[in-house]
Amino acid sequence: MAQFRTPRGTVTTPMFMPVGTQGTVKGISPDELLAIGSQMILGNTYHLMLRPGEDLVAAHGGLPGFTAYPGPFLTDSGGFQVMSLGHMRKISEEGVVFKSHLDGSLVDLTPERSVAVQEALGADVIMAFDECPPFPAEREYITRSLERTVRWLDRCLSAKSRPEQALFAIVQGGIHPDLRQRSLDLTLPFATPGFAIGGLAVGESKAEMYPAVDFTTARLPADKPRYLMGVGHPEDLVAGIALGVDMFDCVYPTRTGRFGYALTDDGRLNMNSSGPRRDLRPIDEDCDCYACRHYTRAYLAHLVRAEEMLGPRMLSLHNLRYLHRLVERARASIEQGTFVDWATDWGLRYFKGAL
Ligand code: GUN
Ligand code: ZN
Repeated sequence: MAQFRTPRGTVTTPMFMPVGTQGTVKGISPDELLAIGSQMILGNTYHLMLRPGEDLVAAHGGLPGFTAYPGPFLTDSGGFQVMSLGHMRKISEEGVVFKSHLDGSLVDLTPERSVAVQEALGADVIMAFDECPPFPAEREYITRSLERTVRWLDRCLSAKSRPEQALFAIVQGGIHPDLRQRSLDLTLPFATPGFAIGGLAVGESKAEMYPAVDFTTARLPADKPRYLMGVGHPEDLVAGIALGVDMFDCVYPTRTGRFGYALTDDGRLNMNSSGPRRDLRPIDEDCDCYACRHYTRAYLAHLVRAEEMLGPRMLSLHNLRYLHRLVERARASIEQGTFVDWATDWGLRYFKGAL
C-alpha cells in the first residue's frame, strides 16, 4: 500500500501520525505540522467527548474547522483510552462504563456511541470500538475479548451513517499467533477499507511485539492500509516498515520532547545533561526543521534548563520532523530497492549512539 485517498487528500505510506489527543498536537500549530510533512493527525474520542463535547466540535464543522488543521484526521474509538488511563468501571457485551477523569461522573461508551461521536468529530478515518486487553492477560480472557471486539465491529458498521468516513477494523489477539489468527479469521470477512493491529506496545518486550506484528501484517491484505496502533520509537518504525506496516501513531516524539529529549540518528540526546550545554551545533545537521535551521544545541539546552516553553515546543517539533523524515527515508529506499541496506546502516548507527 503506497497511497490511500481520504476526503481531505491523498496520503503516502508508510506514514507517522502525530497525536492530537485533545484537538491539538501539544504545542505545535497547524502551519508547523504542514511544514514538517505531517499527513494525518490523530484525535481521541474519549477526551473530546468529555471535553469540550462532540457537539461543539461538530458546530465548527468537525475537527478541521475546530482545530484549523486542514488535512486528514483519524480518530481512535475510545475503549483503549478508557483502559489505559485506568478509568474503566465495568466492561460488558453492551460496552464499557467508565468514570470521567474530569468530574468523576459515570459515562457509557458503546460501539454505537463511539461511532456517533466519531461522526460528529468528522475525521476521515474512524476506528472500530474494540477492547485492548492488558498485558499480561489470560489466554481465555484474550479469546473472549477478541470475539467480543468482532461483535462490536459488526455493531459499529451497522451504526455508521456517513459513507465518506472510512472505518478501520482492529485485529487483537495479544502476542499469541493462534489468537491473532482467530481474530484475523473473524475480522477479515468484514473487508473494511483498512485494518489496524491493536493490543501491542502495552508492556510486552520488543522480542514479543515484532513477531506478533509480522504474523499479522503477513495475513492482512497488502492493498489496504495496515496500521500499527500506539507505536512508536524510531527503531519500531524501521522494524514495522520492514514487516509491512503502513501507518503508525505515538505520543513518544512530543512527550519525550516535553521531557527534554531530542531524537537523532545517533540515539536520543538528553538536553538536560551537560553534553549539549556548550555545543554550538544544531541537534541534527541533516534536519530541516525550524529548530535545527535556527538554533544551537546550547540554546535549546538553555531553554530547557530555564523552563522556557519554547524549549519543549522546539524539541517536539524537531522530534516529529525526525520521525516524518525517518519514514520518508525508508519510503525512498523502498522505491530505490535499497531498504535492507538503508535499514541496516540506520540501525548500526542508531544503536551504537544509544549505548
Ligand atoms: N491504541 C494503541 N493500541 C490500541 C488498541 O489496541 N486499540 C485502540 N482502539 N487503540 C489503541
Ligand atoms: Zn530538527
